[in-house]
Amino acid sequence: MSLPQLIMLPGPTNVPPRVYAAMCKPMINHRGAEFHELYPRLLENAKKVFQTESDLFVLTSSGTGGVECAASNLLLPGEKILVPVGGTFGERLADAFRVYGANVVDLKVETGSAPTTDQVREALRREKDVKAVAVIYNETSTGTTVRDLPEIGKVAKENGALFIVDAISVLGGDDLPVGKWEVDVCITASQKCLATPPGLALVSVSKDAWRVIERSKPRTEYFDLIKYRKFRDEKKETPFTPAVNLFFALDEAFQMILETGMEAWIGRHKKAARAYYSAFKGMGLSFFAEERSRSNVVLAINMPPKISAKDLREKLRKKYGVVVAGGFGNLKDAIFRIGNMGIVTPREVITTVSAVEGSLHELGYPGTLGEGLRAAIPLLSDL
Ligand SMILES: Cc1ncc(COP(=O)(O)O)c(C=O)c1O
Repeated sequence: MSLPQLIMLPGPTNVPPRVYAAMCKPMINHRGAEFHELYPRLLENAKKVFQTESDLFVLTSSGTGGVECAASNLLLPGEKILVPVGGTFGERLADAFRVYGANVVDLKVETGSAPTTDQVREALRREKDVKAVAVIYNETSTGTTVRDLPEIGKVAKENGALFIVDAISVLGGDDLPVGKWEVDVCITASQKCLATPPGLALVSVSKDAWRVIERSKPRTEYFDLIKYRKFRDEKKETPFTPAVNLFFALDEAFQMILETGMEAWIGRHKKAARAYYSAFKGMGLSFFAEERSRSNVVLAINMPPKISAKDLREKLRKKYGVVVAGGFGNLKDAIFRIGNMGIVTPREVITTVSAVEGSLHELGYPGTLGEGLRAAIPLLSDL
């Protein structure tokens, strides 16, 4: 029997049937009438999902392409950018700007915690002439979310710096009103809380960001935002061949999300997160992230002593068809990570919690069977 696995990774995630079905529509001309209808609708709906009036672009690339787009369009070589770094994706964000010649100031953050407003304010006092602050809103490698994000944005703007946010693993799964929080450039990707297959990055560009881009002149061919704007305005097209079927999928996913409503879509992630945390705590497990920074979309759970993360993941996959992630680098065997993204229903929560409980039990974990479900189920009544 070959049943689809339950993909409980922090991306890619499970894809709803209606989104898959949209991908199978016959091919269209990406320089023809059907695309000229699809593309503006996609961008308008993207603005609603991002909750902003800023310009939006859809790039045919994974999320890293969106990061590279920001790095190659925004700063001139030698200009200073502050990047809080508390995990793998913070490191990658800093590296992307370094590759394009920026003078990157790493603000070290203890892993498992998130940068605070005071830390950013202090760093901006120390470092003169910082042109941008770039923050990973949800550090996927450690399961931490920056709860001070709106205040950090204010501090950045007060200091005349652009505010760039990598929200790749979280947009749609937690609060992020891009307009209200004055995010100049916000990046996300299709394969996380937007419940779409991997392959698309989305980038928002504020008026302040445009001023900087026009001055800096993009140092990239593929991700040149000025070219993207020109093609959008003059032709309702993208400069290069887009992944048309993924555009169909994202179009469908946006319709599904907007039918649900942004608040309700995000709310589902929050409710499910509460149930997960309660379940794993009920099972006697602990979490990698400090309590105030715990992510609603990535649960990073400490491995109990004497049980290997590899064995747990293998048992979950082979016996229960539930696929979860391990840790990065030195956290490889120390934690396992569950994505709570996109399709978030009691089925995902109950199946994942029960499968973890069953697998740990078989691997010799001493907890009492059933404690996880007992803790989760009451919190699922309105999901
Ligand atoms: C916070 C964050 N940034 C960047 C990336 C890289 O995205 P991609 O793998 O789609 O290129 C990821 C992927 O998990 C991520 O979680």
